Order: sequence, then structure tokens, then C-alpha cells
Amino acid sequence: MHANGRMKLVVDDQRRGLFRVHRSVFVSPEILELERRNVFDRSWLYVGHESEVRNPGDFVARDVGGRPLIMIRGTDGQLRVLINSCTHRGAQVCRETSGNAKTFQCFYHAWTFNNQGELAGVPDAAGYGGWFRKEELGLKQPPRIASYRGLIFTSFDPAIEDLTDYLAGAKEVLDTILDQAEDGMQIAAGTQSYSFRANWKLLVENSIDGYHLRSTHHTYLEYLKSVGADFGRPFRGYGRSLGNGHAVIEHSGPMGRPCALWEPRWGEEVRREIEAIKARLVARFGPERAERIAEWNRNLLIYPNLVINDIMSLTVRTFYPVEPGYLEVSAWAMMPRSEGARWHALRLDNFLTFLGPGGFATPDDLSALDSCQLGFRGCKETEWSDISRGMTRDPDVTDEEQMRAFWRRWSEQMEGGSTARKRAVA
Ligand code: FES
Ligand SMILES: [Fe+2]
Repeated sequence: MHANGRMKLVVDDQRRGLFRVHRSVFVSPEILELERRNVFDRSWLYVGHESEVRNPGDFVARDVGGRPLIMIRGTDGQLRVLINSCTHRGAQVCRETSGNAKTFQCFYHAWTFNNQGELAGVPDAAGYGGWFRKEELGLKQPPRIASYRGLIFTSFDPAIEDLTDYLAGAKEVLDTILDQAEDGMQIAAGTQSYSFRANWKLLVENSIDGYHLRSTHHTYLEYLKSVGADFGRPFRGYGRSLGNGHAVIEHSGPMGRPCALWEPRWGEEVRREIEAIKARLVARFGPERAERIAEWNRNLLIYPNLVINDIMSLTVRTFYPVEPGYLEVSAWAMMPRSEGARWHALRLDNFLTFLGPGGFATPDDLSALDSCQLGFRGCKETEWSDISRGMTRDPDVTDEEQMRAFWRRWSEQMEGGSTARKRAVA
């Protein structure tokens, strides 16, 4: 990606072990415009989880890739993703963020659509000429919709490769996360929504950044010490590229995991339950994979903007730029369906304590990213951000190979490089 036809915006010099990103990519409105066309319109984007629309008529409405969408289960039992825009003159037919509905009546002129997206009623339809066919005026759908083990994705690129190919190496990590559930995952009711003044790619970097834990989150580490977390387990692990811009850091450390790593503050009764969960994992997957599922944490980035944190709680978040220096985040808690209420409460408590907007981590992270964005006002003089840590060794968890994976794919897409294409674009 070039700033002005001469200068590269991402410098990737493997021989010298140098990787840097030009800071204009965090502040330029032209770059954001190009990202909308080349990145968000050319990727698979997360819409939601099938458990959010379990019963006929259940829906959630959310913005994805700049479009207003409704994910809904129709009376026929089928899950659909619809564009939330009336085919008459554009109003959003659904004005709630979630609920259950047989029909949506547009607030403007009262055209009515059923929960399968079909246009079911038009006041005074006799006013239209011979061209008018209700069956052609249903709510539109994005060109591509696909699911992977309950996670629903959409793409606005009709010719994008299939979702499973797109996921590349991220599929195996997703499986490791989803396999902790014995009968599927569910999303807990409620969305955490927040926004802050930073470029969206700073949150990508931060979500898979193991280098900042000790400096930015030392208050949380102090807190964990004070409640007796097991600091005999050192923080160790590695980051790696998973192909197609996806990346992960996998690590073990002092924090416990509801599945299935005990920490002393949870008490003896919980310890026995955790041991039982672990034993069932060993029975299902063998000791090695069971240990990876139970005792290792992971922060997974599915390019470009889906982050799954499988740490002391399991969370899913997406985020979109509103302006170069402003983004909106949505986050949800995911949990194994079969776990009891107590485990769900523990997971939600962990979510709020660390990752919630008022938790130990998120305000610290947001302050750091806010501060980077403020610092970028000096980007004409301090032009480059450095992402070369660990380039000349086997990357460990504090290195940045996983971030470079994102930036390499981003740079390729911004230069107009082809997504692997299922079929030629018409
Ligand atoms: S815009 Fe929906 S009925 Fe007119
Ligand atoms: Fe952080």
C-alpha cells in the first residue's frame, strides 16, 4: 500500500528484521474509504450466533460492514440475514435491537414484511401499475451468508471464497475453542456496546498484543495476586499467523479458566467440578488436546475484525470504524450451553471484571489506544509505528508476528490484491 505512489505504507524487510507501518493509515479519511471498499466489502464478517435466534420469529438487528442487518429465524425455521431497509423508500423496517416478531410493519407508509423477508402487505396496492409484483419486493439479502459451527458470517462480495477456505488455520483454533462445549455454545443475552477515539486497527493490534500485559494491566495482576491466583504458573506462550490475515496468541498463565483450570479463590467445591470437566475432556479428546483446550488461553483474530478471547471468560467482539479516529465496539459473552447457572455467573463475572467496559482491562487498553491516537497528531514528524518485535527469533507471546500477519493481509487487500476467488467477478 502506497501513500503517494512512492512510499510504502507497510514496510516488511525480513532480511533486516524490520517491520513498520506508516501512521497515516490511522488518521487518513482516504485510507478509511479504501478500507471500506477493499477490506470490509471483501471479507467474511461476523453477524451473530445461531443461539441468539433459537425460536421462530427471534431476531437481532445490528450494523455489519456499514449495512443495517436483521438476523432472523423465520416461521419456516430457517435462519436468514436480511437488509434492514424497506424496499419502498428505504426506512429501517425493524427499529428494535432484538426481539421476536411475526412481521415488521414499516413505520413510514406501513408496507409489511413477514419474518421470512417477504412483502406481505401494501396499503392500497391498487395504486401501482402493472410492473408491481409483491414477490419481487421482499427485503434483500447480502450476497453471501454462511455459518461455521453456529457462528454466522456474511460477505458483501458475491465472489469471495467459501467461508471454510477463508478461515484457513483459524478453523483449527476455533474448533479448539468450541470443543470445550459438550452440546454447543450459546451467547448470553445482552450486548456490551462502547465506542472510543482511536483507529479500529489499533484495537486489532491490542487484541493480540502480549507485550503490554505487564505494563498496561499491572493493576489487574496485582489484584489477582491479592486474591491468591496461582503465580506459580508463569505467563508463557507464542503468537502465530493462521493464514489470510488471521492470527492468534496462545498462552498459559496465572488466571484460571472455567473450562477447566482451577484457581484457589474459587474454592474446593469448584475444584472438584473443574476436575470432572477436565476428565470428560480427556475422555473426549485425549490428554494432549484436553490440556490445550482446558489449560491454555487464546486471543484469536479472525480477519479483519472479529476477536474471540478464550481466557478467563469466553467473549466475542467486533468493531467498526465510524471515522479514522473513532470506532464502535460490540461484545458478547459466549458459554457452553450445558454448563449450569453458577458457571455462567462465574464467566459473566470474569467478563465484567477483566474485559467489560468498566473492568480491569478495557479502560486501561482504551486509554492506551486513545493516547496513541492523540500522539498521531504528530505523525508528520514521527511517521512510523514499529511492529518488528520477534522478527529475528522464534516468536514468543510478547512478540508481534501475529500482528504482522494482520498487516500483511491488510496491505495486500489495500493494494487491491485478489481475495482467493470462488468464481470470476462478473
Ligand atoms: S419507506 Fe417503508 S413503507 Fe414507505
Ligand atoms: Fe489489554
